[in-house]
Amino acid sequence: MPAIRHNAFWSIDAVNRLKQPLLANQNLILIGPMGSGKSTIGKRLAARLGKQFFDCDQQLEQHLNVDIGTIFDIEGEQGFRQREHDMLTTLCAMSNVVIATGGGCVLREDNRRLLQSAGLVIYLRITLERQLHRLSRDKTRPLLQAPDRWQRLQKMATEREPLYAAIADMEVDSGDCSVAKMAARVHRLLQQQQAGSAVAPVVQHD
Ligand code: S3P
Repeated sequence: MPAIRHNAFWSIDAVNRLKQPLLANQNLILIGPMGSGKSTIGKRLAARLGKQFFDCDQQLEQHLNVDIGTIFDIEGEQGFRQREHDMLTTLCAMSNVVIATGGGCVLREDNRRLLQSAGLVIYLRITLERQLHRLSRDKTRPLLQAPDRWQRLQKMATEREPLYAAIADMEVDSGDCSVAKMAARVHRLLQQQQAGSAVAPVVQHD
């Protein structure tokens, strides 16, 4: 796996898929850690591209009429992961949508396969410092409700970073500018790549 030294990377696979009319009907799937902006950027990206937007956690909450914390309280993380998988299966069956996933969905191999086969996977990278800053007052994420947030985020990053990178068609550094600018940046990268004029290097992920 090459070290990330640029703002965005593309896999050869993704470039080939982009030769199809991406902006017309392909799914875009946002992955990355908590606080990387998957939902906010995804919503804006979808509006720019005229696609429908779905956030997996929000869909679960609406569907079950309880918040994510309550699902963890009642069913534990394992129960939540099964519900998350079921919801992702439903969302991935759609077409022409932008999907924001939960940060832990890549832990399951079946989810990783599902996401890869359902569309173009965009990994929003974020530094631990910025993540901690963004999430310092968060009360909604059950896995963060502990005094040692930094260690928790660090542990999750160590475990999950290779999993995000393994299925990403495109990696973009998140968090160094506003949400609106981030959405515009991703949109521009998609258009440039489709037009064959990408400034970002193309990298083959193993
Ligand atoms: C989780 C991330 C959350 C949510 C749940 C578990 C995780 O989603 O799915 O709290 O394990 O990283 P966000 O990534 O949208 O915060």
